[in-house]
Amino acid sequence: MTIKYDDMFSVCAMGMKRSVIRELLKLTRNPEIISFAGGLPDPHTFPVKEISDISRDILDSRGALALQYGPTEGEEPLRQQLVRFMAGDGMTVPMEDIMVTTGSQQGLDIVGKILIDPGDVVIVELPSYLGGLQAFSQYHPEFVGIPQDDDGMQMEILEEKLVELTKAGKRIKFIYVVPDFQNPSGVTLSKDRRVRLLELAAQYNLLIVEDSPYRALRFEGEAPPTIYSTDKDGRTMYLSTFSKTFCPGFRMGWIVAPPKIMNRIVMAKQAIDLCCPSFTQLITAEYMSRGRMPAQLAMIVDLYKVKRNAMLEQLAKYMPPTVTWTRPEGGLFLWIRLPEHIDSEIIFKQAIEKKVAYVIGSAFYCDGGGKNTLRINFSFASLDQITEGVKRLADLFNSVI
Ligand SMILES: Cc1ncc(COP(=O)(O)O)c(C=O)c1O
Repeated sequence: MTIKYDDMFSVCAMGMKRSVIRELLKLTRNPEIISFAGGLPDPHTFPVKEISDISRDILDSRGALALQYGPTEGEEPLRQQLVRFMAGDGMTVPMEDIMVTTGSQQGLDIVGKILIDPGDVVIVELPSYLGGLQAFSQYHPEFVGIPQDDDGMQMEILEEKLVELTKAGKRIKFIYVVPDFQNPSGVTLSKDRRVRLLELAAQYNLLIVEDSPYRALRFEGEAPPTIYSTDKDGRTMYLSTFSKTFCPGFRMGWIVAPPKIMNRIVMAKQAIDLCCPSFTQLITAEYMSRGRMPAQLAMIVDLYKVKRNAMLEQLAKYMPPTVTWTRPEGGLFLWIRLPEHIDSEIIFKQAIEKKVAYVIGSAFYCDGGGKNTLRINFSFASLDQITEGVKRLADLFNSVI
């Protein structure tokens, strides 16, 4: 008898979706294509030599510990460094409220796993981080999207939606935001809106998931305080990662949550992978304790600022007047808006023919909107590629508008 595999899968598995970005990235493997599609850091920023030296030192001095299973919560030396790191950003976090995760992506999956029952409402930004939508989708929420403007999620619209959803008897669980140099739009949630977000969350008894991988990559302007540090009620979970600032290959992220939530988070991680690798955690902790992180961050900020400036300059020079874009003060991405009648997915094939790639905007919209938008990354391409790639994109847009 032939097996009907589709009858075997769980409800959770049937909620899974392949990442559109990962599928598109396969097309961009051709080295002739200038890819603005991924969210990859510039590999020249990886501290290869220092990691090599520290690795040897750790194997010599603490080899048995480094190669052994470790605590689910993470290695203490790293968690202590994280306490200090976040204190430098105005966050007072007890070490017990921190768990190390396999990249932030694992933190997002765990959040979905412990909070979402099928049909629960999860509020997200329009557009929102695709990997967040993908992680939560497995648990069958109903997504409700709130549009952004240049100051992030629009609080009046959020309030209207909360009223509407409550009237309809919906169970709203949490609000998911990427408040700093958002992936995909590059926009930052303003200080006033962070305060308002917390007020609304308190009024409607909701949790907030603050996912902030890009916060340390500020090129200019003043950082608004994290939502976590403004929250006096313990309703915010904070996620961050060293993927964009140190090396994504370590898959080194962390999640901060109040004790009652952390207890569930730890149980969920135990079921997933018991613990993160001890070796890479100890390397990261040692790198931080040798005081290397500030210079690493400063070097990345300097490099990406130059790249962002180059991209903004080229866009201003070549783009048709009906095309607009965001001007992020940090991070890795900017967001392009085409005239309403142009669908970035339909012209994607032509972009690949012109040997330039981006990510279609609608991938980031939980409601299928955003067809005339697209995301471009400025961290990975070289300066020459940025110049040439923007020209190719402008050629394409000029030919279809
Ligand atoms: C907003 C956001 N959250 C989480 C992640 C996942 O990060 P990590 O590579 O640490 O899993 C990313 C990666 O691009 C991201 O942009």
